[in-house]
Amino acid sequence: AFKELVFSGVQPTGNLHLGNYLGAIKRFVEMQARDAQCLYCVVDMHAITLWQDPAALKGQIREVTAAFLAAGIDPKRSIVFNQSQVPQHAELAWIFNCVARLGWLNRMTQFKDKAGKDRENASVGLYAYPVLMAADILAYRATHVPVGEDQKQHLELTRDIAQKFNNDFSDSIAAHGHDAGDGFFPVTEPLIGGPAARVMSLRDGTKKMSKSDASDNSRINLTDDADAIAAKVRKAKTDPDALPSEVAGLSGRPEADNLVGIFAALKDVSREDVLRDYGGAQFSAFKGALVELAVETLAPLGAEMKRLVADPAEIDAVLADGAERAEAIAAPTLDAVKDIVGF
Ligand code: ADP
Ligand code: NA
Repeated sequence: AFKELVFSGVQPTGNLHLGNYLGAIKRFVEMQARDAQCLYCVVDMHAITLWQDPAALKGQIREVTAAFLAAGIDPKRSIVFNQSQVPQHAELAWIFNCVARLGWLNRMTQFKDKAGKDRENASVGLYAYPVLMAADILAYRATHVPVGEDQKQHLELTRDIAQKFNNDFSDSIAAHGHDAGDGFFPVTEPLIGGPAARVMSLRDGTKKMSKSDASDNSRINLTDDADAIAAKVRKAKTDPDALPSEVAGLSGRPEADNLVGIFAALKDVSREDVLRDYGGAQFSAFKGALVELAVETLAPLGAEMKRLVADPAEIDAVLADGAERAEAIAAPTLDAVKDIVGF
């Protein structure tokens, strides 16, 4: 048995980008070195909270799976799977819909951003998304969840749901022999951090790099080739000043801060380390070094993704095996939850 259980997910919504890699997928790979069972999920049920073309979705699911594998997630050691193939996610989400409070969901800022002005016309699924996310995590009683900074509020909601379930059903949890001393569900630790917990758009340092930005130049896609990566880095917005020699000098300079953070994360060093080498340099020089580093990491990753996507049978076999192993963990959790609730 492992000491920790790690869960995280990525939506198959197309345009996988550098923010997804540095804020999430690269860190998923690193978690495999811990004493942990890691589960990495392609969360298609989250994806359909916004309209997805049915003819494209399967390809998008395979593309995220390919990104996981190309980045170095080992499908023998970790469990790589697709959310909709494991029915316990939806089942537990319903029970959690009856635990979570409306007031909690009303505070979720991502819903407000994604629903936009026409909130009356947003799907109920988009609103309940964070409850499904709690179910994704707690179906495995995950102890740690590596995510980007944008998921912080949703992770807090997951903790609130776990605690409320543990409290509301404390007697029943004990009566069924499921209380190891601290309730049935763990209070999951979010792992948010590193220099790229929030990668910003290359065109506007105040917006996060995102799959849905209309400008393709705003993000580096994981399938971009060396020329595209170079062009986007060179076009990235900057200010006219040289790089500062200390991190404090990045405050009030979001575009500079973003490029330094990306460089640091790609190189596995801190912002301090980067500025020790490049403090005083002009952006033209720094961008040259960043292009080299980004191409070195991302060009082989993109090429391997394309190779894997070309053989869907191999990817589908990984997902089928992963679903079976995931369900073997989630099914006993759901059996216990049903006993606890009184079903
Ligand atoms: P997106 O937010 O791009 O639509 P997902 O919701 O599927 O993608 O997020 C997948 C993972 O990537 C999550 O852990 C999320 O926090 C992380 N992530 C997304 N965008 C960024 C970003 N700009 N910087 C850092 N991490 C990010
Ligand atoms: Na996100």
